[in-house]
Amino acid sequence: MNLELSEEQTAVRQLAKDFVAREIAPHVIEWDRAESVDRSIVKKLGEVGFLGLTIDEEYGGSGGDHLAYCLVTEELGRGDSSVRGIVSVSLGLVAKTIAYWGSEEQKRQWLPGLTSGELVGCFGLTEPGTGSDAGNLSTKAVREGDSYVVNGSKMFITNGTWADVVLLFARTNDAPGHKGVSAFLVPTDTPGLSRRTIHGKLGLRGQATAELVLEDVRVPASAMMAPEGKGFSVAMSALAKGRMSVAAGCVGIAQAALDAAVTYATEREQFGKAIAGHQLVQELISDIAVDVDAARLLTWRVADLIDRGQPFTTESSKAKLFASEAAVRAANNALQVFGGYGYIDEYPAGKLLRDARVMTLYEGTSQIQKLVIGRALTGVSAF
Ligand code: CAA
Repeated sequence: MNLELSEEQTAVRQLAKDFVAREIAPHVIEWDRAESVDRSIVKKLGEVGFLGLTIDEEYGGSGGDHLAYCLVTEELGRGDSSVRGIVSVSLGLVAKTIAYWGSEEQKRQWLPGLTSGELVGCFGLTEPGTGSDAGNLSTKAVREGDSYVVNGSKMFITNGTWADVVLLFARTNDAPGHKGVSAFLVPTDTPGLSRRTIHGKLGLRGQATAELVLEDVRVPASAMMAPEGKGFSVAMSALAKGRMSVAAGCVGIAQAALDAAVTYATEREQFGKAIAGHQLVQELISDIAVDVDAARLLTWRVADLIDRGQPFTTESSKAKLFASEAAVRAANNALQVFGGYGYIDEYPAGKLLRDARVMTLYEGTSQIQKLVIGRALTGVSAF
């Protein structure tokens, strides 16, 4: 792998840096306190092409490779993880999955809206009773003539409050475990679908996270994506790439922690000199720096494998595992550098730590990533 970025990759990274400085950085504290980013950010993300990365231009996408996607995701994660999550889910888990699994009609129906930011997508896998054991989900879709009638509920759904379409996973037959699961593209204004925004989250407070409830939601049979019973493969393939995107967002958190810690340490004076001159502060900073580099390299490897058409699922789990744990460590170390000031939200370290904390939980906990890696190494499944 060549670690030197191409001209195009360098340009898109700069575009993302400028976007973060102009559209995100001035609002981060305000959005965090208000528990909502400004919804106009979605349209702006679409206009600049960030919601169409890796998607073909014929469907409204902006093209680019997976490394470019990681570079943008990292910058957005450096700016605000709540904004980064909009892209990781609406593009990463929904649009990219439609582009891969969808019929021609489904691609034409949904991709132009999702890539332009006219529409927002969410990923309806997790349920109140099934998180890690996703294949055991209990939402049911029962065939009635040319329709399916869906009943169930979905929990902790990123973008859930704002989404126009949910990529929904539901059980369509009596086969055990994941074999009975199918995927559907359900417009969120379908009668019987209601949502409740989840408040009081530790981090990602600007994110429109919701619970979705489906009561006799009728969708045409044509809303099914991929063959009947193949829904879990759809979900797993989406998450394999999604985990790379979370990892890239975590690199952004860790980089933000590093930048903030270095700046603060060179300005703050104690014992008659800048605290950057104290060896134990340098240790904190160098630990963050090593975490940033290691997480970034693991993440770029996944992008490189995808772009070369190589297997990447285990590498994606490794990147997500390491980068999410690294982001928590990095933000925590940065908070230590900031001392008491790090504990109030006018300084960045606290929010970085709160946002980082969920990264070891969603899109597969750290423990699930270890089991996926362990299974690949030993050939023995723990599930
Ligand atoms: N591409 C295509 N198909 C794949 C695939 C991939 N990358 N990975 C697996 N599959 C297929 C398999 O071939 C298999 O299909 P068949 O039965 O037809 O052969 C099927 O999917 C099941 O695969 P596994 O045997 O690997 O599945 P499992 O039951 O052993 O999985 C698990 C266990 C790994 C723990 C899985 O349940 C899992 O990943 N759990 C974590 C769930 C999770 O990450 N949830 C995140 C929620 S989404 C979220 O957080 C989004 C958000 O809002 C931010």
